[in-house]
Amino acid sequence: MIEAAKRARLNARAPHSGFKVGAALETRKGRLYRGCNVENATYGLTVCAERVAIWNALSEGEADFRRLSIVADNDNLTPPCGACRQIIWEYCGDIEVILANLKGRKARYRISELFPMPFDKRFLGERAKQGEAR
Ligand code: THU
Repeated sequence: MIEAAKRARLNARAPHSGFKVGAALETRKGRLYRGCNVENATYGLTVCAERVAIWNALSEGEADFRRLSIVADNDNLTPPCGACRQIIWEYCGDIEVILANLKGRKARYRISELFPMPFDKRFLGERAKQGEAR
């Protein structure tokens, strides 16, 4: 998992921040989908490695995930940003999130620990159910 995220990190397009991140998302059947951060000249359209990995897996028809690893070259471990926490929770459920750096430091969390009070489709009630049927 961590090796796959390290490999994805090498593809990062981070000319503005210089901060390269890699992610790997594992399905329950053991397939891995990778992602890296992709920045652009407006800055604001940047997409984090985690979301790229999730979009990659979803666009291939995957829906059932076990864990996500995130790797950056930092002394501290790099946790997912707020936007990614929302997307991880909504599309992956309460998966394990493994943080690692290039020096061998690592830690594991569940997304529910990192994102303890989520807004999700439960708040939308019947409206969300109707939307899913469409
Ligand atoms: N970044 C990620 O890809 N994932 C994270 O968990 C934190 C931040 C990226 C976004 C941007 O390209 C760079 O790191 C600096 O914020």
